[in-house]
Amino acid sequence: MPYVIAEPCIDVMDRSCIEECPVDCIYEGGRKLYINPLECIDCGNCEPACPVEAISQDRRVPEEQEQFVVDNRVFFEIPLPGRGDALGAPGGSVNTGPLGVDTEFVAGYGPRG
Ligand code: F3S
Ligand code: F3S
Repeated sequence: MPYVIAEPCIDVMDRSCIEECPVDCIYEGGRKLYINPLECIDCGNCEPACPVEAISQDRRVPEEQEQFVVDNRVFFEIPLPGRGDALGAPGGSVNTGPLGVDTEFVAGYGPRG
């Protein structure tokens, strides 16, 4: 039951969540951040840290944002643009640094607001 970052993070990327994660499983894309469902230990620390309430447990994501539950997984399971392999579980974002690219879904997401 991992936590998920949804639509409000797009183009905001406050990054406060990163500092709260004990296992460093929040990875930075181009327009938003993504939680690795294979590495998240469901501690819940990140949820209150986000000023725009982008983070919630996967089963609590608002219905109109359900695609983000799948999309957080896709970020790690399908090779990102410019990469030959999927990220999988790289053992923490310290090992990858900011990725600077997004899933197709987020890259093509309209401007917020
Ligand atoms: Fe995004 Fe909120 Fe983290 S805006 S980067 S989910 S603190
Ligand atoms: Fe990190 Fe998951 Fe906790 S993203 S802060 S381990 S809920």
